[in-house]
Amino acid sequence: MTYQRKKHDSVSDDIVWHNTTVTHQDRVKLKQQKPVVLWFTGLSGSGKSTVANAVESQLLDLGKHSYLLDGDNIRHGLNKDLGFTDQDRVENIRRIGEVAKLFVDSGMIVLTAFISPFISDREQVRAMLVDGCFLEVFIDTPLEVCEQRDPKGLYKKARAGEIKHFTGIDSEYQAPLNPDIHIKTVDKSVAECAEQIIQQLIKREYI
Ligand code: ADX
Repeated sequence: MTYQRKKHDSVSDDIVWHNTTVTHQDRVKLKQQKPVVLWFTGLSGSGKSTVANAVESQLLDLGKHSYLLDGDNIRHGLNKDLGFTDQDRVENIRRIGEVAKLFVDSGMIVLTAFISPFISDREQVRAMLVDGCFLEVFIDTPLEVCEQRDPKGLYKKARAGEIKHFTGIDSEYQAPLNPDIHIKTVDKSVAECAEQIIQQLIKREYI
């Protein structure tokens, strides 16, 4: 896989890109892995973070260098100014895409766990990255199951009208039409879901 930086925009023509002395290829060679973004998408409570954590643990055991960007955590820091309107969600995903791109440049395997409800935003992140560096992982858990689990009690609050714009209730979730990896979680353990993803990474020669 050759790496080329995609054209970027900035507010001014006076901002020029500086190439670094240590290159992407140098970092990749040192780490001995193919950098990629595993972009988990799914409803709140679908298991994105849980499965992504399990995948990352397995990657660690395999000696792979990874980093997990998790929705709730990023909203405590980098994106603490963003809420859940459509506009804020678009900006949330745009920023995460840019961060993920930096991590890929550094040679890492990046896992992201965000609802990322809109197809166009996910495709925009794919387009930011070099071909083959983005795999959409659909954590497919039906709304009824997520709502039954309700690990944070948020569906209950949303149904009671205490939370507005809640995904699946009064805010749309656009499921992937053709995900790179499709994980149907019902009747599967976390370990089985993680293993399915690891097997796909092996089959596609990422690890
Ligand atoms: S995203 O839609 O912008 O991708 P993100 O993954 O960052 O969402 O954050 C989702 C998490 O925020 C949920 O798992 C849940 O814990 C919490 N949350 C709080 N309010 C909402 C809401 N209105 N809709 C969805 N999730 C919410």
